[in-house]
Amino acid sequence: MANQKLKWGILGAARVNERLLPSIIEAPNSQLVAIASRRAGASKATFEKYAPRSADSVNCYDDMDSLINDKNIEAVYCPMANEEHAEWALKAIAADKHVLIEKPMALTVKDIEAIESAAKKANVKVMEGFMYRFHPQHKRVQEIVESGLIGEVLSARASYSFLMKQARMYRINRSMAQGGGAMWDIGPYAIHSLRWCFGQKGKPMEPKSVIAHAKLNEHGADIVTSGVLDFGKDAKGRARFGHFDISFERSRKSEYEIIGTKGWIKCHAAWVFQNDVPVISWATEDGKYAEERFAPSNHFTLEIEHFSDCVLNNKQPLLTFADARANCKAIEVVLQSVATNRMIACD
Ligand SMILES: NC(=O)c1ccc[n+]([C@@H]2O[C@H](COP(=O)([O-])OP(=O)(O)OC[C@H]3O[C@@H](n4cnc5c(N)ncnc54)[C@H](OP(=O)(O)O)[C@@H]3O)[C@@H](O)[C@H]2O)c1
Repeated sequence: MANQKLKWGILGAARVNERLLPSIIEAPNSQLVAIASRRAGASKATFEKYAPRSADSVNCYDDMDSLINDKNIEAVYCPMANEEHAEWALKAIAADKHVLIEKPMALTVKDIEAIESAAKKANVKVMEGFMYRFHPQHKRVQEIVESGLIGEVLSARASYSFLMKQARMYRINRSMAQGGGAMWDIGPYAIHSLRWCFGQKGKPMEPKSVIAHAKLNEHGADIVTSGVLDFGKDAKGRARFGHFDISFERSRKSEYEIIGTKGWIKCHAAWVFQNDVPVISWATEDGKYAEERFAPSNHFTLEIEHFSDCVLNNKQPLLTFADARANCKAIEVVLQSVATNRMIACD
């Protein structure tokens, strides 16, 4: 299937298409064939805005069902509002489409299980769209941690924030339980990063308990949330805590840091923008310090290429259902902790 291209459709004229839509066009094993929106004219406007120089002819639908039922489409990208992901992923799977679902895959573990079971039955691939994992900087961080350079990992910190603009306030006009707020928006990155900071042998570690605190707006959406994930003690009885801190009130930040018994390592920007030079830095107790810079690469395009390759060549996607379930479970526990103001066990 060397020269084959996977035919993609996009469900929704969402803002994130600014990065994702050009990536489907750029990925050598992918072809964008349609985009749909429920707002008349929005799909055409989105395509023209984000792919002004594209020579491809793309169907621009003013309803979602036409795209779901388009027999020419093999894979669907779902960047709809968080609370709509499960419903539309299930519809796409029922139409035998492979689905890349923006993070969070769904708002409950139960919904993820329903998506998993439907995908197995229909024999289609589904992946949660954590684009950041496809940037080579994270693999390098893992390599360094696994080399033992910073010793045993005992602490990690993840901090994600951006300033929510007035025009985008419709995204936080509903409660956390309905998918609104920072925890469902940038929280998935913070929890995912921390689970992988403590990861071993290619698998993330799962927290044993969580305590979190939030500032909510008048709709019950969190604007700032901060908390601690307790990953339990290591073999020598030392504490392993992961600290997260997310906000819609602060300047853009997307960093995580891992602190071990012999040193630390930091990823300065997990959301790599077009002109950013990705850099990681590390230091050790014995005085070594380094900054490692990476050649430009677009993690959205790498994500699309990966998913298309998995479908075309029947490979297992890098991000699994088990990972999506565990991330969702941890977020569910964070929300319980915020609601009750108590530490909550994860089992
Ligand atoms: N991977 C990333 O870097 C990244 C970045 C941002 C967001 N995300 C994720 O991607 C998904 C979409 O996020 P987003 O920020 O791009 O969402 P968004 O622009 O708010 O769009 C979400 C949905 O809302 C509708 N919509 C768009 N603009 C609207 C408007 N002005 N008024 C009313 N409805 C509107 C669209 O559906 P219709 O076209 O059918 O109306 C769209 O599918 C979320 O799940 C989010 O968590 C990922």
